[in-house]
Amino acid sequence: MGSSMSCCGSDKVDEGITINGGQSSWRIFTYKELHAATNGFSEDNKLGEGGFGSVYWGKTSDGLQIAVKKLKSMNSKAEMEFAVEVEVLGRVRHKNLLGLRGYCAGADQRLIVYDYMPNLSLLSHLHGQFAGEVQLDWKRRMKILLGSAEGILYLHHEVTPHIIHRDIKASNVLLDSEFEPLVADFGFAKLIPEGVSHMTTRVKGTLGYLAPEYAMWGKVSESCDVYSFGILLLETITGRKPIEKLPGGVKRTITEWAEPLISRGRFRDLVDPKLRGNFDENQLKRAINVSALCVQSEPDKRPTMKVVVGLLRGSNEPKIKAMQMRIESVKYGDDLMAIDQATTDDDDDGGEESSAFGVFGAMEVQKTHDPYKRIGDRRMGKF
Ligand SMILES: Nc1ncnc2c1ncn2[C@@H]1O[C@H](COP(=O)(O)OP(=O)(O)OP(=O)(O)O)[C@@H](O)[C@H]1O
Ligand SMILES: [Mg+2]
Repeated sequence: MGSSMSCCGSDKVDEGITINGGQSSWRIFTYKELHAATNGFSEDNKLGEGGFGSVYWGKTSDGLQIAVKKLKSMNSKAEMEFAVEVEVLGRVRHKNLLGLRGYCAGADQRLIVYDYMPNLSLLSHLHGQFAGEVQLDWKRRMKILLGSAEGILYLHHEVTPHIIHRDIKASNVLLDSEFEPLVADFGFAKLIPEGVSHMTTRVKGTLGYLAPEYAMWGKVSESCDVYSFGILLLETITGRKPIEKLPGGVKRTITEWAEPLISRGRFRDLVDPKLRGNFDENQLKRAINVSALCVQSEPDKRPTMKVVVGLLRGSNEPKIKAMQMRIESVKYGDDLMAIDQATTDDDDDGGEESSAFGVFGAMEVQKTHDPYKRIGDRRMGKF
């Protein structure tokens, strides 16, 4: 870790940080300690795998349950991602953001330590190993959406400099024992200097959640996260994946599926059938209105996260109703659709970033994958 990492300076280690309401502090771990805590990074301890590397469950010698993210290969890009993650984590403190428990930066390894979230990710409940159990009733879904929105609102409006997450998706919303959501993974985050409305960058993120202006031109602003949140909202209500593979192999985005139902006001038909009709009609209308506002193709028309939170709470009324809007679904190029792994049946190793060429130039889009196929059924309290 370079000395420029202000958040990691030893002067701050003793300060103590309040995370999730409890008094706790982050610290530097030794590799030996993390090796012992995770049973030598054994396959049995593996929780999942993403772009950065693998995540392992562990228990420290003082009994704390942790999740250890281990960088898969050391190169300058990965090191940068690690540095950004630790830097950003050091800046944020919010009940709906997964804070830093510590890190380890040895000569040839980089590891990040978080609190272990016993209910894993929203993805695992919507499409993964917990999906069959339907632990996410309507109330929990609403709580997860509102909490996630509040976490993103904090990143966009309350922390300085403002932070754009750039990878809002169901696997990056982790759930604590009370199903309180904690937005995770700031490795892709972008710090926005004061007075800058948008920036142009290389595209990173996950197909299906990417705002069109970002996917095509790399134009990144807070409203890219708003778009991704709109997709997450639709996904959570409907129980459908952002991109689905239809019989015959054609891939369809969730907005393509939802748009005709929304425009005809058939909101009930959007709700996840697993809920067996148990939902609050007013909240449903409100949530669909919010998602329709968030996924508009013109970034300037999308609401801010402040407005989103107000609408979800019911304290504000939307100016336009979803039915009056024509949702233009994003058309990802066939080449991008082809590299999307979340909707394929094969059991890909996943996680590696691959390059593809979008309509307007070189793009880098992270392959999405379904870690649950490979990892099998891992339940709460198994350890
Ligand atoms: N703190 C944690 N507690 C419990 N499970 C976790 C924790 N952090 C990560 N996981 C699990 O590990 C999986 C892999 O996480 P990881 O962030 O590496 O990949 P991802 O979210 O699928 O993709 P990406 O690299 O784009 O974030 C997650 O889906 C989640 O189920
Ligand atoms: Mg993640």
